[in-house]
Amino acid sequence: MPTRDAMLAVVDQFFDGPADLDRLSLMSDDVEWWNGIGKFPAAPGQTVFRGKDEIGRIVLGRAPSPRQPNGRHVDRYDLSTRSFADVRTIVDGDHLFRQHTYRATTMRGRPYENVYGFLFRFDAAGLIDRIWEHWGTLEAYETLFQGPLVVHDPDLILQTTPSVRKRLDLDRPVPREVLQECLELAVHAPNGSNQQPYRFLFVDDAERRAALADIYRSAMADFIDRPRTDAAEDNIDRSDEASKRVTESVMHLAAHMHEVPVLCVPIVAGRTDGLGAGAHAERTNTFWQAGRWGSVVPALWSFMLALRSRGLGSAWTTLTLLREREVADVLGIPYDQWMQVGLFPVAYTIGTDFRITPRRPAAELIRWNGFRTADEA
Ligand SMILES: Cc1cc2nc3c(=O)[nH]c(=O)nc-3n(C[C@H](O)[C@H](O)[C@H](O)COP(=O)(O)O)c2cc1C
Repeated sequence: MPTRDAMLAVVDQFFDGPADLDRLSLMSDDVEWWNGIGKFPAAPGQTVFRGKDEIGRIVLGRAPSPRQPNGRHVDRYDLSTRSFADVRTIVDGDHLFRQHTYRATTMRGRPYENVYGFLFRFDAAGLIDRIWEHWGTLEAYETLFQGPLVVHDPDLILQTTPSVRKRLDLDRPVPREVLQECLELAVHAPNGSNQQPYRFLFVDDAERRAALADIYRSAMADFIDRPRTDAAEDNIDRSDEASKRVTESVMHLAAHMHEVPVLCVPIVAGRTDGLGAGAHAERTNTFWQAGRWGSVVPALWSFMLALRSRGLGSAWTTLTLLREREVADVLGIPYDQWMQVGLFPVAYTIGTDFRITPRRPAAELIRWNGFRTADEA
């Protein structure tokens, strides 16, 4: 059995040895490494790695990792930045346990911190023949393998994607690649006959953003001055605190719309308002309406959820549709063939914690086996 000092020296080399030291030289040929994460991008589901070749390739990360299913490249920590803190070591017979806090910067520049516990078993020759690696697997998975998502939990994404107006970061540029990445996910939404009859127009040119913002503000004035009817949307009580906050937030967005880094105008082929060209001029009933809108709105909402997962936000706005022709003129959209869905400001959000959006519970909105009023239910 190796001496205590010999085992301590090997483990010291394992963690603190020079960068060019081959860690595999400290291990026996039939070494096994248990690593409970089961999420290595190159070996999904695998928790035990056997032999120097497999450990070298997958656990020590020498082989390039395949892309994740969402198209992302896996991140990993930059070994030259690593440091260990709170090191505790216990030796028991031919086993050595070491716990430490590991800190490093990832290759993509994100901070990584995690607590690790390593149990090593040594063979008679003083080489490591088994490793049990215990670590904060969620932190490792999220930071290293999933990329810089700010929300990983699909339930949370669905519950906390608000209309962001005051918390749009007007100073932080939005790279075009981020928008493309989000749309790359959104295109998987359902749409009529899988024809994807939509386009997403992204506007980052300052002059065009200013023109769109002016149209938005004029449309808002039109809306506020509209003749009122007894329809529900003309009689919303906005006197409570929550509604006052929404109104204030809406006014804020209107005032700053031109400063939002990117404005998005999604469009769908075929008008349903009778003003279109060709066959669509006649196709105005609910069947055709549902088909048109249903072929763009799911992708648009997926896009907004993808933005949220990456720390960006948007707000669904439709006011510009009151002046849709003007927007079409600014962006060169053939008005009689393409219908706009609205104007979507896109920016990084200021902070990424959002409360659960206030909504009536589903139980109030469900009716089983037919339409009834709530008291009949
Ligand atoms: C069809 C539709 C049209 C909307 N139009 C506007 C708009 O023109 N301007 C605006 O600031 N917000 C608009 N909104 C955002 C709503 O006001 C917002 O979703 C609602 O107040 C709930 O807020 P929350 O999603 O942040 O909880 C619209 C939302 C939808 C779904």
